Parts: sequence; C-alpha cells; structure tokens
Amino acid sequence: MSDELESVVQTLIADGKGILAADETVSTLTKRFDTLGIQSTEKSRCTYREMLFTAGAAEFISGVIMQDETIRQRSSNGMPLAQVLSNQGILPGIKVDAGARPLAGAPDETVTEGLDGLRDRLSAYRDMGARFAKWRAVIHVSNTLPSHACIGANAHALARYAALCQEQDLVPIVEPEVLMDGSHSIERCQEVTGTVLHAVFGALHDQRIRLEGMLLKPNMVIAGKDCPHQAPVQEVATATLRCLRRHVPAAVPGIVFLSGGQEDWVATVHLDAIKRLPGPKPWRITFSYGRALQDHALETWHGEDENLEAGRQALYQRARCNSAASLGRYTEQMEATPVGVGSPPHRREWRDD
Ligand code: 13P
Repeated sequence: MSDELESVVQTLIADGKGILAADETVSTLTKRFDTLGIQSTEKSRCTYREMLFTAGAAEFISGVIMQDETIRQRSSNGMPLAQVLSNQGILPGIKVDAGARPLAGAPDETVTEGLDGLRDRLSAYRDMGARFAKWRAVIHVSNTLPSHACIGANAHALARYAALCQEQDLVPIVEPEVLMDGSHSIERCQEVTGTVLHAVFGALHDQRIRLEGMLLKPNMVIAGKDCPHQAPVQEVATATLRCLRRHVPAAVPGIVFLSGGQEDWVATVHLDAIKRLPGPKPWRITFSYGRALQDHALETWHGEDENLEAGRQALYQRARCNSAASLGRYTEQMEATPVGVGSPPHRREWRDD
C-alpha cells in the first residue's frame, strides 16, 4: 500500500474534522429541489454545490464526497470545483457506485452495481483530483430481511470496489447502510448491523484489503423510524459502540458515520454521546453526513442568489456543531436556534440512490 493512502486517511479523520457527503445523484437532488420549488438545472445544482464548498468550513470539514456531474463542474469564476476544495485543504472525494438495483431472486432487496469498468473510472477521477471514493450498499430490514443472498452480494461488491480503489491509490470509504426505514426495534437493528459488518469484514479480508488504508461508513444502531419505541440517546450510543466493538477490527483507522435520515441535530447529539462513552475506541470516530449537514443550508438558500451567504452560514453552523460532537464537546448552547422546535425527529427522507 502506498504511503499516500495512509496519509489521506489520516487527513480525513484529523481531530475535530469530518466529511461532507454532497454526492446525491442528479435525480435525488432534483427531487429535493422539487420539494422546495427550486428549479433543477446543471447551473442551479452547480451553484448549490459551490455554495456548500465555499462556506469557509475547512476547519471542520476534511473532505467532500462529490458525484460525477459535480467533479466535472467549475465555480462561477471558472475554477474546477475539486480545486475549490483542495485550495482550502479539503480533500476531494467521489461516489463511484452506480446505485442500488433490485437483486434478482430476492424480492424487496437491492444490490449496489457499478463494478464494470470501475478501474478506468477510478483512474480518471484520480486525474480530476479525487483522493478518496465512496460506495454505498443498502440493506433493508424487516422481520425476515435482509436475506443471506443480499448481505453476501453487497459485501462482495463492497470488497471488490475497495480492492480496486486501493490499487488505484484512492482511499475507499466502505458504506454498508442498514436503513432506518421500517418499524423494527433497535435490538433488530443491532442484530442486522452486526451480521452485515461481520460479512463485510470477511469479504474485505478475502479481497486482501489493507484495513489501514480504508474508512468504514456505517449507520448508527437505531430503531426504525416507524418503531413506536424510539430509544433514548444513551441507548443508541451504547448499542452503536457495542456493535462496532464486536465487529470492526482495530486496524481500521476511522469510523465516519452516515446520518441516514436522522434529523440534523439528532445526528449531532448521537455522535457526541458515542464519543463521550467510556471504554476502548480503537478507531477515530467522526461524521460523514449528507442530509444532516445539508438540510438547513439547502432550505435557507432556497434557490435564491440573495440567500447564498445565509446558506453558507447554515452549513458552517452545522459543520461546527458536528466537529464539536466528534470531539465529545457539543452542547445545545452551540445551536443558533433551540433544537427540536417544530420538527419531529426522523422526518428527513430524500436519498434514494
Ligand atoms: P446521509 O448522511 O444523508 O445518510 O448521507 C450520507 C451518505 O453519503 C449516504 O451515502
């Protein structure tokens, strides 16, 4: 493994920093724009991404995950967006999976596609400035799901992707997401998350992944959003850390959580609680949030040029709170407005890629 992989990993998980996932596909971002009445054009999507990338949040954000359209776009003054990031010391990253598609023979389950031609695409993205990559596997939960077939197919694909990334000198972020959709209990989430992580690390071993040169992006252990009993913060933190201790090797340098549809401040509070728990945590723990970092910024901007500065401030504010949480130093007083006002937890759901 090249030294560069390890140094990129260490940069991504530097103290007090986390990752901004801004890699929604065109169709997912368009749906989100639609709900706010924002026209989705190549230009408006570029303006939005440029707003996020120029929020002055480099003290809290170590890397940004883009997608294919974004990494090819230029800022309003003609600079490639990847360079806008790297000029601030933020590492450009790229989502390289082609999305979750129905898994044959497994009703209601998906397998993430995109391995064909991946070697060449990785090499091209590296030339465009990317230093790390992301692949998301999606695991649906019910009383009977996920199936063994679904877990195995997704774990294998994640490991094949990770091997190709390391070959091409890109740090793989390995993201097996156990969804919050459904009415399952936190205990069921813990059981499924543990089984999935066990399979993923088995597959990574089989494909000879150097664990020191990758990051894991897992879900937190949390009840399904339609479960009548939503576990309190301490229970989520304890169950999450217990599950990770059991299933994630200590050689993995960092765990960067996804937010998965949690309300933004809830994702912050959970991260903070996990960090504050006593006992061994052999990996760095931080955030790699999409919705939980972007929601407020997008709503504030609302497609209007005159709101760009306020949108930047909204992103800066969430990044600051999550940075503090990644150090176990978040307090509610850091919030600009009182948390939890007017919005039930877990109301966000707009990622379908
Ligand atoms: P969320 O934080 O919105 O779950 O997105 C993170 C991500 O990158 C999902 O692939």
